[in-house]
Parts: sequence; C-alpha cells; structure tokens
Amino acid sequence: MKKLHKFLAFAMTTLLIAGALSGCGSQGKSLQDIQKNGTMVVATSPDFPPFEYLEGGNVVGIEVDILEKVAEDLGVTLTIEQMDFDAVVPGVQVGKFDLGVSGITINEKREKNVDFSQPYFLASQAIVVMPDSPITCKADLECKSVSVQTGTTAEDYCMNNGYEVLAFTANNDALAALTSGKVDAWVVDNEVAVSLAAENGLNVLTEPMTTEPYAFAFPKESDSLIEAFNQSLSAMLANGTIEEIFDNYNAAYVSPQA
Ligand code: ARG
Repeated sequence: MKKLHKFLAFAMTTLLIAGALSGCGSQGKSLQDIQKNGTMVVATSPDFPPFEYLEGGNVVGIEVDILEKVAEDLGVTLTIEQMDFDAVVPGVQVGKFDLGVSGITINEKREKNVDFSQPYFLASQAIVVMPDSPITCKADLECKSVSVQTGTTAEDYCMNNGYEVLAFTANNDALAALTSGKVDAWVVDNEVAVSLAAENGLNVLTEPMTTEPYAFAFPKESDSLIEAFNQSLSAMLANGTIEEIFDNYNAAYVSPQA
C-alpha cells in the first residue's frame, strides 16, 4: 500500500512537471485545432510590397495569394492581423498568432524560437540609393550610414558589418530616411527594393549584400499544421503556381533550391 502511494505521488509529480514544461513550450496549434476554429490567425507587417501591402484597406500581395491557396487546401479561412515587423516573430513565438507571414527570412536565431515551413523563395538584401549617389557598389558603402527596418535581417547584417545604422519600425520610414537625406543608402530585401524604388525614383544596386530564403513562421510544436501547410506549398512549388503568382506581381522568381 505504502509502495502504491509512493508510486502515485511520483506519477503525479511527473505529470505536473511535464504539464508545466509543455505549458511553456507548446504554443502552437495542431491541424485539428485550426480546422476546428475554421480559421488561421496570421501576423503580418503589410509594408512590404509585393509580398504584403495595403490596397484599399485590404492586405494583398504574393504571400497573401499563396496563403489563400493553402487555406483553401486546409479548408479554413484567414484572419489577418496587422502590426510592425518587429512584433511578428515574437508574437508567433508566444502563440498569439498561428503563423507569421512577412517575407520572413529563415535564420538560426529565429529557428531557436519558431518553426518554419519549407522555404519558397530566395531573396537577397539590396542597396538602394538616390539617383545621383556616388555609391555604385557594396564597397562604396563601407562605413557609410544606412537605414533599415527594425528587427530585420538587414538590421542584423548592417550592424554586424560596420555600417552606421538608423533603424525604423516602419519600412516606409526607412525609405523616407534615404529620400530626406538622413542616410547614404537604404538596405532592404531585393524585390521590395525594386518595387518601392520604382515608385520613388530611386536606384537599386545590382550587387546583393546577402542571400536569404523566405518561409512562413509558426509557434514551436505546430507539427501537424506545418506538415499540412508544407504539403500544400510543395504542390504549388512543383506545379508552377508559386512562379505564376510572382509573375502576376511582375516579381522575378528565384527558387530556394538555386
Ligand atoms: N526578410 C527580412 C527579415 O526576415 C525582412 C522582412 C520584413 N518584412 C516586412 N513585412 N516588413 O528580416
């Protein structure tokens, strides 16, 4: 009897500890959870054309189109929540959102806190300058001042490589820092650079600073959801749908396998 008591006490403690541990680690939802809710809650920073931007108050773009197709495959709708980019990954990490969709680059630092879908695109960081700028290549930019968006890989890269960095929570403010003469260059993801430079009469230098794969970010322990998501994404990569979506936005598609 005493033995049984001891065993029960031990079993209870183990359960409690396991519960407490999984309570802080498992923020993600399963495919079943999502389907029961009927919707995926998406965190996004819609200041990043052509991937996500506002048009008549709606969030549209390449990643929204991709997501709509995945949602259709999973039989759910999308609930899109807008925020600054530096709130996206932290919000996903604590399970406030089911996934983050924001031209998010996979990197080691983020992989510690969130899980990623498979990559679907290979981006790079580009240097954007005023049309009359003497800066024509990466070497010309050495030790110069740059603007970046807070919490991005551009910020990390520029901080680690000796540039004088001005960071802004909104992407448009990073762009405005260049056009108003506060910095020598703006460092931003290449397709976004092309899209916004064209609108603002700016020059995008052809030499890339980095290469980085984009993917969708999920809270840890979203395994069955990520599996279903990846199945849908793989099919779209294989049958040319992803490339077609890029074409619709006049964006050059580069496979992450390249
Ligand atoms: N790819 C970069 C990163 O992951 C920039 C993403 C910024 N996204 C945005 N929607 N503003 O850090």
